[in-house]
Amino acid sequence: MDAMTLLHKRSSMGKLGAPAPKGEALEAIYQAALRAPDHKELRPWHFIEFTGEGRERLGELYAEAEFQADPDASDTVLAAARKKPLRAPMVIAVVARVTPDVPGVPRLEQVLSAGCAGHGILLAAHAQGFGAMWRTGRYAFDPVVHKGLGLDENDELIGFVYLGTLGGRHKPVAEHDTADFVERWD
Ligand SMILES: Cc1cc2nc3c(=O)[nH]c(=O)nc-3n(C[C@H](O)[C@H](O)[C@H](O)COP(=O)(O)O)c2cc1C
Repeated sequence: MDAMTLLHKRSSMGKLGAPAPKGEALEAIYQAALRAPDHKELRPWHFIEFTGEGRERLGELYAEAEFQADPDASDTVLAAARKKPLRAPMVIAVVARVTPDVPGVPRLEQVLSAGCAGHGILLAAHAQGFGAMWRTGRYAFDPVVHKGLGLDENDELIGFVYLGTLGGRHKPVAEHDTADFVERWD
């Protein structure tokens, strides 16, 4: 796939089955993430990869977050939380690991850099024939989940990227009119 086709045609895939990327394909995905633009080379990136039973441990954290928020949460709610990370064979938590108080590189810039790393994961997965989808949902912002993942106050959990093999067709890519988004000062 040529680069412009990839940039124009990448799309998200919610239904993902095995196999997940592994070996060289997975390494290529991380290397794409690590090419994110990065002011002052702070490397504000951290990835936590969940596969196999690791996804179940993540689901337990989600259920714990539900329980802490509402000790009366029903078994149905807790079971639904546990199942969420099982929607794909691999989930990568993308964390912006922010270095505080860097002159000229505010927190926002470092979080944006991690966002670009997340996009790199989506693009590199698509380029190699895998499916991926970036999800947050309320668990990405829950302190119980953050603590369970060992994050601290300088970390921002910016998303969970679900990865696997397409369980269907890519949905049609939305077409946008450039003029709706671009203002030109000639
Ligand atoms: C930061 C971020 C968080 C997102 N969180 C969710 C989510 O929790 N659930 C969801 O269905 N889509 C979420 N999305 C949107 C999907 O990843 C996807 O971009 C959207 O469905 C459009 O599909 P496309 O990427 O093929 O254009 C999120 C996107 C971003 C950038």
